[in-house]
Amino acid sequence: MAVTINGKVQAIRTGESLIDAINRCGVTLPQVCYHPQLGAVQTCDACMVEVDGKLVRACGTIAADGMNVITDTVGAETAQREAFDRILGNHLLYCTVCDNNNGNCTVHNTTSLLQVEHQKTPFRPKPFEVDMSNPFYRYDPDQCILCGRCVEACQNLQVNETLTIDWEEAYPRVLWDGGAPIGESSCVSCGHCVTVCPCNALMEKSMLGEAGFLTALPKQAINGMIDVVKGIEPEVGYGPILKLSEAEAAMRESHIKRTKTVCTYCGVGCSFDIWTKGRHILKVEPALGPANGVSTCIKGKFGWDYANSPDRLTQPLIREGDTFREASWDEALDLVARRFAEIKAETGPDSLAFISSSKCTNEESYLMQKLARAVIGTNNMDNCSRYCQAPATTGLFRTVGYGGDSGSISDIEHAGLVLIIGSNTAESHPVLATRVKRAHKLKGQKLIVSDLRENEMARRADVFLHPRPGTDLFWLSAVTRYIFENGLANKTFIDQWVKGGEEYLRSLEPFTLEMASQRCGIPIETLIKVAHMIAEADGVCVLWAMGVTQHVMGSDTSTAISNLLLTTGNYMKPGTGAYPLRGHNNVQGASDHGAMPGFFPGYQKVDDPVIRAKFEKGWNVTLPPKPGLDNHLMIDAIHDGRLKAMYVFGEELSMVDSNANYVAGALSKLDFFVMQEIFFTETCRFADVILPACPSLEKEGTFTSTERRIQRLYQVFEPLAGSRPDWMIIQDIANRLGANWKYAHPSEIYKEIAPLTPLMAGVTYERLEGYKSLQWPVAEDGTDQPLLYTRQFKTADGKAAFYPVPWSEPSDQQDAEFDLHLNNGRLLEHFHEGNMTYRSEGIREKTPCTFVEVSPDLAGKRGIETGSWIQLTSRYGKVRAQAVVTTRVHGNELYMPMNSVDEPVNRLTSSYTDKVTHTPAYKETSVQLKVLGETGEDPLPRTNSRHGNPTPQVGVEVERKLARKDYREPGKELVQIKTS
Ligand code: SF4
Ligand code: SF4
Ligand code: SF4
Ligand code: FES
Repeated sequence: MAVTINGKVQAIRTGESLIDAINRCGVTLPQVCYHPQLGAVQTCDACMVEVDGKLVRACGTIAADGMNVITDTVGAETAQREAFDRILGNHLLYCTVCDNNNGNCTVHNTTSLLQVEHQKTPFRPKPFEVDMSNPFYRYDPDQCILCGRCVEACQNLQVNETLTIDWEEAYPRVLWDGGAPIGESSCVSCGHCVTVCPCNALMEKSMLGEAGFLTALPKQAINGMIDVVKGIEPEVGYGPILKLSEAEAAMRESHIKRTKTVCTYCGVGCSFDIWTKGRHILKVEPALGPANGVSTCIKGKFGWDYANSPDRLTQPLIREGDTFREASWDEALDLVARRFAEIKAETGPDSLAFISSSKCTNEESYLMQKLARAVIGTNNMDNCSRYCQAPATTGLFRTVGYGGDSGSISDIEHAGLVLIIGSNTAESHPVLATRVKRAHKLKGQKLIVSDLRENEMARRADVFLHPRPGTDLFWLSAVTRYIFENGLANKTFIDQWVKGGEEYLRSLEPFTLEMASQRCGIPIETLIKVAHMIAEADGVCVLWAMGVTQHVMGSDTSTAISNLLLTTGNYMKPGTGAYPLRGHNNVQGASDHGAMPGFFPGYQKVDDPVIRAKFEKGWNVTLPPKPGLDNHLMIDAIHDGRLKAMYVFGEELSMVDSNANYVAGALSKLDFFVMQEIFFTETCRFADVILPACPSLEKEGTFTSTERRIQRLYQVFEPLAGSRPDWMIIQDIANRLGANWKYAHPSEIYKEIAPLTPLMAGVTYERLEGYKSLQWPVAEDGTDQPLLYTRQFKTADGKAAFYPVPWSEPSDQQDAEFDLHLNNGRLLEHFHEGNMTYRSEGIREKTPCTFVEVSPDLAGKRGIETGSWIQLTSRYGKVRAQAVVTTRVHGNELYMPMNSVDEPVNRLTSSYTDKVTHTPAYKETSVQLKVLGETGEDPLPRTNSRHGNPTPQVGVEVERKLARKDYREPGKELVQIKTS
């Protein structure tokens, strides 16, 4: 199909808007409200064109075969100018003293494009104050052109549903929760609105007074300058004035640096440009990220203060008695190497253990496991995937072959039905959740959520299942059995692709709907409804996280999920598959690159002699043949006296491992403990040597996100004086132990990884340049696989396998003494214990501490109010916190977010683990609750978004603007606008 644009034939795609075709064709057309990632908002009218003689908005018109489009008829140009002139009535042009004058301001650029010399519609200030009440961004109504991009982003992309425009008012403006101050609204500070705002109406506070050369001047002086400019404008026109501001914008290039990086928080893998001036972060600008586009959450958009925190470690520390003294790098590294060598000589290589950071890069994990295996000679190597995702990987290994998400985030978006189990997706994987919320809100996607808490996704779901704690396996297996028994299974798919059906069917015998209903507390009718929804959906994606994996049956429940997907044929095609949501930004990559006790990089087994021989040849060493200790077994081995020394980097081990008191007891028994960190964390208290490392902004390398996407991060800042990138430190230690490594840059490390690792064979830094990315497996020629299993499964014969999983009881059950169930997890604003996020003042303001969610029912029985101080005691420890009474939790179930180093929830959790992977059963904890008798303020301040009242609507509702009495379509009356 094709259209003709200004006489030129342009091919078009089915369903695309005319504006995309025009832009692709290279014709310049003014457009203010249009943003390709938001679609047509149709508020600005600046994109008027003539189609077959009629004036239409190019953004709101679907291109159709044979259309004759002219963008520059007198009628079209008049309409464009008139529309833009009205926009200028809502916006004071003061570009030279504006922090948004950086060459990318849509209002400025459109003024230039249309060569506007004088505006006909005078600027009309709005009778509202600038709203500064959000810690991260501000809204200036006077500068707001009412394009509605922000509303569209908030309502339809982020789907937080905070923003609207009161189109009927005399002075329409953007409203938060229908008229609340931003800081007291439901705004979650994701920053979508600020990112898409085409001018300076919404701006990051970190830009204000910083971006421009003149913008830090006192307000009075700036106003004076604006008055001067306005004074000369009637005589000289905008032309020279804009030229001046463009020159100033060009000068800014000398002090503003834009660097692409990848978010260092969760596993979604958002990437963006970071704008910096010296070490000041001006803003985070997402646009081109393959996973996120313009999307971010509060942490990725605004949570970077920790990098410049005054308490960054900048000098190595060596323990002296109960304190530490500062040491030189040489002294500290010499000591580490000497003690490692001594301990290895005295008690053997297996008396040392290594834990890699899933916050650090792939190259750093690779080097850490190489240090353990090739230099020390032990496979005692692990990373924190053991704490969360190892059971999901096992479930996938057992059934389909690859231990990663079977498709991409875009597949989740296109599924007919999304089933979320044990994942607080909107808070733990916020940007990924936006894709589900959007598809559910706008595209008719169905959503089923199974969770203990009525979290945001549960509240949005078509069906919310609230199974008894630890019983997901039961209802999943019962639903699968029902699907088989009622002829709803995808027989064609199973016959062709899945082995082991008969044995599996036999294993499902105990899982009747009646038993499931009894065990899980879910009505039979609901289970039947769920079975039909899953079996009949046009593509099912299952998303799961720690609510599934952190149980004694974590691996088995993950397997049951994959069994259900196989039963219904939900693999091998777009919009289907298994999505274990990886928690940390690089927990996938740490495992992929060999930071595991049984695997070399690429999940190649250490006990396979052929594989081992390959690495022995590659590294020119002899390697240990047996799998080592995982991080759970390491703690036991320290208590038993088998493990003497440990080297951990970027991991708050003493807080995040389960049964924290037991872990702390172990760490204090170590003969020698090396911590490599950016701050003096709780775990550092146990160390003998502390090595100051660099955060992601100060180094290069690659991260691998939940969708197996490998992306490069570039260095934003030089390492803070005194600190060093982790890969350099690991290399320094290895070399002191005789390794003779000579990596000058992380790219050289990857050059070594790729040929040894078939999964990453074609990964090169060149193929990952800028915003390019690869989703493993990557063939040598660089071909990657966004969707796995399109031709076969990753097994010897290419077939998937049903894997029978039995039921077993959860651990640490309630009894008369410990009568309440305690659940735990993340909060949107904080990452884990909050070592990084608490260092952001704005995040601290919004979410200053942890708390315990208590159901209204339980609160009523125990006399608890929001703010009451309570003590929780488990069989392993106790914590004190304030209560938040909320319907998010039910009955005798409590929830405590992880964000505390003073009162960490893991003091309460047990040492029970998943049978296969040793992932702690964090989610199986029984406690008793004592009311302490004091009541303070709500631990969630009034400014926390959870107190807000969203105002859902579909997009900006432009039809209300068009229905205003004073609205007239531009171009209908001839308006004389003087141009150059
Ligand atoms: S939630 Fe807040 S920051 Fe995010 S788009 Fe909506 S108003 Fe903007
Ligand atoms: S604040 Fe919203 S409506 Fe106003 S200019 Fe910015 S994006 Fe457009
Ligand atoms: S924390 Fe996760 S969702 Fe938020 S910006 Fe970072 S990668 Fe994206
Ligand atoms: S760009 Fe088409 S109406 Fe704004």
